[in-house]
Amino acid sequence: MKAKLDQIRQKVTEQVRNCDSTEKLNEIRVGILGKKGELTDLLKSMKEYAPEERPKIGQMVNEARAEIEKLLEEQKTRLEQSIREARMKAEVIDVTLPAKKSELGHRHPNTIVLEEVERIFTGMGYEVVEGPEVEKDYYNFEALNIPADHPAKDEQDTFYITGDILLRTQTSGVQVHEMEKGKLPIRMIAPGRVFRADEVDATHSPSFHQIEGLVIDKNITFADLKGTLAEFARELFGSGTKVKFRPHHFPFTEPSAEMDVTCFKCGGSGCRFCKGSGWIEILGCGMVHPHVLEMSHIDPEEYVGFAFGVGLERITLLKYEIDDMRLLYENDIRFLKQF
Ligand code: DAH
Repeated sequence: MKAKLDQIRQKVTEQVRNCDSTEKLNEIRVGILGKKGELTDLLKSMKEYAPEERPKIGQMVNEARAEIEKLLEEQKTRLEQSIREARMKAEVIDVTLPAKKSELGHRHPNTIVLEEVERIFTGMGYEVVEGPEVEKDYYNFEALNIPADHPAKDEQDTFYITGDILLRTQTSGVQVHEMEKGKLPIRMIAPGRVFRADEVDATHSPSFHQIEGLVIDKNITFADLKGTLAEFARELFGSGTKVKFRPHHFPFTEPSAEMDVTCFKCGGSGCRFCKGSGWIEILGCGMVHPHVLEMSHIDPEEYVGFAFGVGLERITLLKYEIDDMRLLYENDIRFLKQF
């Protein structure tokens, strides 16, 4: 028995020393210590020996087993270590290489202009409010005094979701939501996205942004409207900016006007930018129609107000001299970085 054990021990020592992978090491372990392993067989053959000899033999086998296990364990550690070393050698990290820069985003020119507009109006005591982009026909049209047969209500201009629900075509509906709250006076601007069934080109997009303005109080006059919007234009385009009001028509204001500013490129003398006129149109405005006030439960005998609507993209394009609106929607970082 002792001879057999010595033989096994010797063989295993030899095998383990020459073993160069953990898989092979495991095969050796199974071959010796496994259920059908050599050492296990030896233990099974114990019954061939006299009962008084068996404890001694058992002890010998166990000692051999412990020794072999230790051998296997040591070789395993050695193998793992050398595998790790080899990997470390292969994976050279050059810490002096320049790092890849991750691209930072950039504020969108629309956002820059909107923040400026909000700064100007909040500075004059206005509140910034929001309204829903999915809107009822009532808020987008009816409550704004826009009759059922108005061309803007045509499906060719408006995205309808159902006969009564639509994507708002203007931010003017937010005026109605604010008036319905019943808290007076009102001094608000409402920036937001609007939708129109337009083909995309250099000056049109099916989705763009407006900034609505509404003031309702006692004793408000057209002079307040003029003074406010002239101040707005001076702050946004420069202190030398002059404004001009041209009569216009909007169903929800009476009287209505469009406001032009002196061309900030040529200062009013006329250039390619203002198509030679010296003026650039930037917004629509007017005194809130008494009927609009009434529909929102405000007494037109007691309260008056003015409203205005500005196209955000229009101002952004003018301010930064961008000649194609599509550039604003492509989110090309090379374009955005310039502002
Ligand atoms: N909602 C108008 C439009 O989309 C713009 C506008 C004009 C808004 C006059 C107003 C206003 O509040 O008073 O063309």
